[in-house]
Amino acid sequence: MNDGDGTHTGQERRFGPLGTALVIIPTYNEAENIKAIVRRVREAVPEAHVLVADDNSPDGTGKLADELAVEDDHVQVLHRKGKEGLGAAYLAGFHWGLEHGYGVLVEMDADGSHQPEELPRLLTALKGADLVLGSRWVPGGRVVNWPKSREFISRGGSLYSRVALDLPLRDITGGYRAFRRETLEGLGLDDVASQGYCFQVDLARRAVKAGYHVVEVPITFVERELGDSKMSRDILVEALWRVTTWGVGERVGRLTARAKRAQP
Ligand code: GDD
Ligand code: MN
Repeated sequence: MNDGDGTHTGQERRFGPLGTALVIIPTYNEAENIKAIVRRVREAVPEAHVLVADDNSPDGTGKLADELAVEDDHVQVLHRKGKEGLGAAYLAGFHWGLEHGYGVLVEMDADGSHQPEELPRLLTALKGADLVLGSRWVPGGRVVNWPKSREFISRGGSLYSRVALDLPLRDITGGYRAFRRETLEGLGLDDVASQGYCFQVDLARRAVKAGYHVVEVPITFVERELGDSKMSRDILVEALWRVTTWGVGERVGRLTARAKRAQP
């Protein structure tokens, strides 16, 4: 319902129609996976377009993606000069997608962990949301073939982020997401510095703080069968110090505001 001045509030907010979706797939050494994942996306959501954001993979992923683009006008490739991290690849992909007028921007890993067949459910949820997170840690969500150690890191990362940043979300580090273009435009992407997987925490945090309606949809995350994870100690360390810095910054900000109010 409209509350009189043209704005919409809370449950009553109406969401505009979804435009064409661009599925952004960042790649670094995914030669064994890239063709299968693009084919699956094209089959699962034929109207969507695909953008492969490749960091000049030494294994030739970029060239394979070019071959797909030649055969299929719904597939594009963004060639980047070298490995600069997941965050930088997504930022470049988002800018490309926004410039080219897409209404929905989707994040998806190349290795099959994020099943394209689940994308229609994410897009349906986006009809009533600003941002949809594919979530492993809500009822109905799960992970297949992950060692306990990796599950511990992921659950721990989400829990730490949830508490440190005071976010009402369960899967804060996940990378299967659908954004409305207006949401990305409102997040202030120009000053995002996160390079590794904490990029995901950064965007979730910005979306909640900006008051966007963020919805978690359960997904089944399937660990890759081919190729290697790019998760590293450096990526973990970056995540830990950034989340801690944001959390401390917010607390200091709140205390300062309270102290100012308390002044006579
Ligand atoms: N262009 C580019 N540059 N792509 C990258 C880079 C990079 O520096 N690093 C990783 N990628 C790509 C991979 O090729 C893959 O398509 C995707 O990003 C995810 O990388 P993985 O290495 O498979 O991630 P993961 O399975 O260990 O981690 C998953 O869980 C994380 C924590 O929940 C992913 O879903 C992450 O998005 C998520 O943050
Ligand atoms: Mn993976």
